[in-house]
Amino acid sequence: MKAVIANDHGAVELSRRIKSHLESRNIEVNWLGITTEDSCDYPDQAKKAVDEFRKGGYDFGVLCCGTGIGISISANKLDGIRCALPQNCFAAALAREHNDANFIAFGGRIAYQDKVEDMLDAYLDASFQGGRHARRVAKIMDLEK
Ligand code: RB5
Repeated sequence: MKAVIANDHGAVELSRRIKSHLESRNIEVNWLGITTEDSCDYPDQAKKAVDEFRKGGYDFGVLCCGTGIGISISANKLDGIRCALPQNCFAAALAREHNDANFIAFGGRIAYQDKVEDMLDAYLDASFQGGRHARRVAKIMDLEK
């Protein structure tokens, strides 16, 4: 599997943790994040990761900002992207099972009840269930037209 990751200054450490967790699962990571806490703009980081994802060869992307909110909103403005912002492992698994999310976002300044690594595992270990969910995902994508 291959993933692209990007972050802003609100999630430098979290982004590093995510990179090493994915690599520990033998997932190839293209890390486009920033490495310092110098301020940058999360819409630019979302676009950078999505542009890379669209080149092909990627299974999913991970986006991080202070809350995960701004960078996920930005990614969801871009055609073809379904970026989930899970609250816990349950939501992370359903992001794949029901929503077929191709990006997942987290907040570096959020005190999650579940570890981000566990949420990532829940997302990665789940599979899209299709059926009625495929109909709904198709309707989401039709909203882009
Ligand atoms: C940056 O200060 C902060 O606004 C950003 O990381 C994120 O939380 C926005 O949603």
